[in-house]
Amino acid sequence: MSTQNPSAAENPGDRTALPVERLAAAGRQFTQPQYTDNFYEAVGGHEVFVRLVDAFYDGVAQDEVLRPMYPEEDLAPAKQRLLLFLEQYWGGPKTYGEQRGHPRLRMRHLPFRVTPQARDHWLQHMRAAVDALGMAPLHEATLWDYLERAAHSMVNAAD
Ligand code: HEM
Repeated sequence: MSTQNPSAAENPGDRTALPVERLAAAGRQFTQPQYTDNFYEAVGGHEVFVRLVDAFYDGVAQDEVLRPMYPEEDLAPAKQRLLLFLEQYWGGPKTYGEQRGHPRLRMRHLPFRVTPQARDHWLQHMRAAVDALGMAPLHEATLWDYLERAAHSMVNAAD
């Protein structure tokens, strides 16, 4: 926090400093409860996202509509890209961006015919994968809401 505005934090009289920074600048000790608004951490971090994409790709591997769309023989690299993207999106490591740059997901899907049928298959496997996680209802609803909207926005061709 204080690193965002170091000059304000150094001056206890500076009204633009955050309350916490003004206390620190005045030499006061304080503790703060550890809240987290980081979804990635709140749901269990890397292990949970690995389980999600593993279960999802188990479904894709068996799917007669989706499987032929994936250019590579081996689904592992595609699985890894989805894992890294979702981890970054939800507040985890930013490895996706380091390796792939800006997501531009709609653009990256343009080489593939994402039809309403393909979207529904995608969502069906993702739904099963989310269900298998056994998340807290609010987390599950938050994740699902995003995935559903993202899948609808990815459609770029008619059935
Ligand atoms: C709606 C149905 C969808 C279909 C049929 C579909 C299909 C595909 C295919 C065929 C690829 C190329 C595989 C590869 O990476 O080599 C791909 C890549 C990818 N998809 Fe999807 N996708 C869908 C929706 C989504 C959604 C909703 C998300 C995100 C929430 C997503 C995230 C990604 C990511 C991150 C990549 C890799 C992009 C890259 O860095 O190159 N996809 N998808």
